[in-house]
Amino acid sequence: MENPEIATVRISLPSKGRLAEESIAFLDACGLSIYKPNPRQYQATIKDLPGVTVLFQRPSDIVTSVRDGSVDFGLSGLDVIEERKGDNGDVLVLHEALGFGACSLALAVPETWNEVYDLASLGQYAATLSRPLRIATKYPVLTGRFLDKQGISYTLISAEGTLETAPAIGYADMISDLVSSGQTLRDNRLRPLEDGVIQPSQAVLIANHATLKSNPQALAVVRQLLEFIEARLRAKDNLSIFANMRGESPEAIAARMFTQQTIGGLNGPTISPIVVRDGDPNWYDVHIIVHRNELFAAITELRAIGGSGVVVTPVTYIFEEEPPRYKAMLAALA
Ligand code: PRP
Repeated sequence: MENPEIATVRISLPSKGRLAEESIAFLDACGLSIYKPNPRQYQATIKDLPGVTVLFQRPSDIVTSVRDGSVDFGLSGLDVIEERKGDNGDVLVLHEALGFGACSLALAVPETWNEVYDLASLGQYAATLSRPLRIATKYPVLTGRFLDKQGISYTLISAEGTLETAPAIGYADMISDLVSSGQTLRDNRLRPLEDGVIQPSQAVLIANHATLKSNPQALAVVRQLLEFIEARLRAKDNLSIFANMRGESPEAIAARMFTQQTIGGLNGPTISPIVVRDGDPNWYDVHIIVHRNELFAAITELRAIGGSGVVVTPVTYIFEEEPPRYKAMLAALA
C-alpha cells in the first residue's frame, strides 16, 4: 500500500507515443530527472521533487485521470486535452506551450480526390453524395464541433489504431487525425485540406482544479514545476557570451556596446575589471546573453568594437522574480 507520507502528489506522464520520450527528456533538461528503477514499472520518482509519484499512462487516459482527480497533474498533448477535458473546469492548464510534441489535428482526404482541396470544396463534394460523408477519427468531440460550424453533412466513424488505412479499406471516406511531419498521410496516399486544421497542438501541463484549491502540497509542487519549466524555456534559446575588451571604464565600454544591434544584453552588459598581472590595467570582461539566432551577429559586433577571447556557453535557466504562470494560476483559483 502507498504511504501517504511519502507520496501525496501524483503526476502522470505519457507511457507511449512520441510524447513519452520527449516528456522525460524535457523534464530532465528542466533539472527534474525521472528515476524509474525498473523500465517495466509504471511508477517513478523525481529526486528533486520529493513527495511526488510519477505515473505513466496513455496520453488520453492522463486527461481523464486529471479530470476525475485520480492524479493531480498531467503532461499530455493539447489535442487530447481539448478532446477530453470536459466543460466544467475540472482541468486547469498550467502551461500551454512546453515547446515539444508539435502536431495538429487535421482533416485529410484521399490524394485521388482532385477536386477537393479545402473546406468549401469538401462541402461541395459532400453535397453530391447520397449519404453523409464518413470520417474516421479518434477525436469525435473536436472533429464534430469543427464540422458543425462548416455546415457539412457527416457521420463520424470511431476508430482505434491506424485509421489512415480507413479510406483504402473502405470503412470511411476520409480521416481526422494528428499530423506532424505529414509522412503517415503521404505513406497512405492521403492529403491534408488546406484549411482543415481543427486543433494545433503541443505538449501541455495540466492540473486538477479541486486539488489545487485544497492541497497545499500540490500547490508547492506546481510552484517548483513552473519555476523550473519557465526558467528552462526562457533560457534554452539563449547563449551566454564572455569577451575581453579594453576601455577607459565600464561606462565607456558599455557606451560602445550600446551602439551595436545585438550585444546590449537582456538589461545591459555586465562589465567586470580583469585583474592583470602586469601591464595595461584597462582590461575588462564583458558578459551578455544573446539569442542563439544572433550569435554570429553578436560575435561580429563584439570584434568590431575591440572584443577578443570570446567564450560562448549554453544557458541552463533564466529565473525571473516569480513564475508568471504560477501567478496566473493563483489568480484563476481565486
Ligand atoms: C500520430 C498519428 C499519425 C502520426 C502522424 O500517431 O495518429 O499516425 O502520428 O505523424 P506524422 O505526420 O509525423 O507521420 P502517434 O505516433 O502519435 O501514435 P498513435 O498511432 O497511437 O496515435
